[in-house]
Formats: sequence, C-alpha cells, structure tokens
Amino acid sequence: MIVAGVDGSEAGLEAARWAAKEAALRGTALRLVHAMPAWACEAEEGPYAEVARWMRDGADTVLNEALEQVRQVAPDIEVTTERLPGDPRPALIKASEGAELLAVGNHGLGGFRGLLLGSVALGVAGRARCPVAVVRPLPAGARPQIVVGIDGADSDVETLRFAFAEAGLRRAHLVVVHAKESLPGPAEAEQGQPVSGTLREWLERHPDVKVREHGVPGHPVEVLLQAASQAELLVVGSRGRGGFSGLVLGSVSHGLLHHAPCPVVVLPTGRRD
Ligand SMILES: Nc1ncnc2c1ncn2[C@@H]1O[C@H](COP(=O)(O)OP(=O)(O)OP(=O)(O)O)[C@@H](O)[C@H]1O
Ligand SMILES: [Mg+2]
Repeated sequence: MIVAGVDGSEAGLEAARWAAKEAALRGTALRLVHAMPAWACEAEEGPYAEVARWMRDGADTVLNEALEQVRQVAPDIEVTTERLPGDPRPALIKASEGAELLAVGNHGLGGFRGLLLGSVALGVAGRARCPVAVVRPLPAGARPQIVVGIDGADSDVETLRFAFAEAGLRRAHLVVVHAKESLPGPAEAEQGQPVSGTLREWLERHPDVKVREHGVPGHPVEVLLQAASQAELLVVGSRGRGGFSGLVLGSVSHGLLHHAPCPVVVLPTGRRD
C-alpha cells in the first residue's frame, strides 16, 4: 500500500496524483491521509464540538479533492481516505509503518513564497519506515529515465534494489551515478568504471533494465542534479558513508531534496533503530 499526505496545497495534490500512478503501476492500494489536531479529529462533544466539526469538514474537503483527482489519473486503483490525529510529521511517520512508499509534496500550504522544501517533507524523509517520495512536477523534456546515486556504502544495495525495481515497473532507463570529487578528468571518467560490485549482481538479475553507469567527478549534489535534469525520478539513500552518525539525512540527500528538478525518493538507509 502507498500512503500520500495531502494538505490542501497544489504540491500535495501533485503528490497524490504521483502516488496514484505509482499504485497503479505496482497494482497496490492508495491511502490518502490528512493530519489534523488530535482534539479536533476525535472530539464529538464539549464546548469546542462545533469548531472541531468545522475542522473535520475542512479535512474532508482536502481529502475529497485529492480523491477526485486520483480517480482521474488512476480510476482502477483501490483508494481510501483518512484523517490522522496529530502533527503531520509524526502522523505521517506512523502511517508509513507497513506502507511500501510514502509520498508528500516538496512544499505545502505553509512556508514562505519560494520555499523549496517544507518542514513536513524534510521531516519525514529518512525518518519514515518506508521509502519517501518527495514529489514535485517533472522537468521540461523529462525522459523515461531514473537516476540513482550510490556512494559505495553498504546501503547501496537497498538503494539499487529500489531503483532497479522502479526502472522495471516504469520501463525506464537507469542511470547509476557515483560522483567522486577526486576522480580524474571527465574524459577518463566517462568511460564508466564499475563503481560497485553490488551493481553487477543487480545487472544480472534485471537483464531487462538498461543501465548506464557513471563515475563522475564533482560534488555529488551537483553531479546528481545535473544527471537528473531530464529524469522522471531520482533515487538516493538517506545516509551514505560520510556525515555524523546522529544525522538522519546526509548532506547529499538533504541538498538534493531542496534542489532536485524531479521527484526524489529517499530510502530509509542508515537507520539505527
Ligand atoms: N497536515 C498534513 N497532512 C498530511 N500531509 C501533509 C500535511 N502537511 C503537509 N503535508 C505533506 O507534506 C508536503 C509538504 O508540506 P510542508 O508542510 O512540508 O510544506 P509547507 O507547508 O510549504 O511548509 P511548512 O509547513 O514547513 O511551513 C505537502 O505537500 C503534503 O504532501
Ligand atoms: Mg505545511
């Protein structure tokens, strides 16, 4: 099952439509959720009953609008809608338990104009129990191409597993990118050294997926942003080899979430609980 968080914003609707198409591809159900204050989600009586009812109506309007749009892009999938009690971040993280994917928009209703990434989107990526898709519109001239970033960490296996499965589902080319600031000049690097033994294994298992493999010199954020400039999806782990152990998101996934030109999936790699 795929969970999509909606908040009444266009970005949230974009996430819901994206999740619906993904659910159709996977042959799975979609659960549209909207988090709201717990007291209003549940209260039936008391002095604030009227306000609470009004807030629940508002939540239902948000959910029904998303439902309507989802039906248009994926009429055949099973869809449920649900009000979740509590702050959006913990509520969405809880809802991700047992889900195969959680989709949110890159921003929402709040935030100031021009904000590239909202606090809910940032707060669930890497913390949810499942992969998180931070959805934004596709870049102009997007191709059926998925870019996956790997950095030589053990968690590359999970990242590659997701990316290969997606490429198979979407019949998209997979571009495996390993950026390294110390790599030699572009001409040499373009010849594509095998970046990871794990990759070979996946290539054998997925002969249907066409893979281009790149060892590219440069900072990983810049290299991946460039590689994804016409991609339909960018896949990264939440944590790589570097960084401080306390961080939920590494600096690369963090930078990509802010600036990516396309939807980004962040895998729950490097979790310690
Ligand atoms: N109350 C909510 N219930 C469900 N999903 C939500 C809720 N709030 C946000 N989301 C999801 O998170 C996405 C990003 O919204 P977010 O709240 O992070 O951005 P913002 O509102 O622009 O900024 P901020 O809230 O940090 O000021 C939304 O598009 C939606 O998918
Ligand atoms: Mg918000």
